[in-house]
Amino acid sequence: MMEVASVLYGREDVRRRVEELGRTITGDYIGREPVLVSVLKGGAMFLADLIRELDLPVETHFMAISRYAGAEESLGRVQILLDVQTDLAGRDVILVEDIVDTGLTSRYLLSVLRARAPASLELCTLLDKAARRIVPLAPRYVGFDCPDAFVVGYGLDHAERYRNLADILQVHDLAALRLDPDALVHLLTRAAA
Ligand code: IMP
Ligand code: MG
Repeated sequence: MMEVASVLYGREDVRRRVEELGRTITGDYIGREPVLVSVLKGGAMFLADLIRELDLPVETHFMAISRYAGAEESLGRVQILLDVQTDLAGRDVILVEDIVDTGLTSRYLLSVLRARAPASLELCTLLDKAARRIVPLAPRYVGFDCPDAFVVGYGLDHAERYRNLADILQVHDLAALRLDPDALVHLLTRAAA
C-alpha cells in the first residue's frame, strides 16, 4: 500500500534554513527597518520563526484573504479580509509567504502592495513550487525549492488540518487524504519525529 505521506523537510532542516534566511535578510537590510507582511493563515508560522532570526528592528503585519471560487479563472484575485494597518509609502516591504505555487496569489498581493508606493518590495517564501508556476514570478528569498507535490505541515494545511505538524510532509496519496482527511492525524505526535 502506498504511504499517504512522508517527511520532505524535517523540523531541523526547516529550523536551519530559516536561520540562514534570517542571516541573509539581516545582511541585506542592515540599517533599515523592514515591514514584514504575512498572509494568514499559512504564512504565520514561518513569519513567527523568521523574525526571531532577524537582527533588525522590524514591523510585522498580517493580511487575510479569501480566494474566489475558481481561483484560476479569477487570475489570483482575492478578497482582502484583513489589511496592513500602517502606511507603506516609502517603507521597505517584504511579503512573507508559506508557498508560491501557481504564483497567482503572490502576484496579486504584490500588485496591491506596490500600489502603496513602498521604497522597496520583495517576496520571501518558505517553499517555491516553481514547476507549477502559471505567471512568471521569482521570489527574492526562497527557503526550499519544492517538488511538484502537495505538502502539509509548518503552517500548510489540507482541509484546515496539519498546520501544526512540525515537519513538512509530502503527500503521496492525495486521493486517500481527500477520502479520509484525518489520515495523517497519527503523525501529530512527538514520537513521529
Ligand atoms: P498560488 O497557486 O501560488 O496562488 O498559491 C495559493 C495558495 O495555495 C498558497 O498560499 C497555499 O495556501 C495553497 N497551496 C499551494 N500549494 C499548496 C500545498 O502543496 N499545500 C498546501 N497549500 C498549498
Ligand atoms: Mg490553504
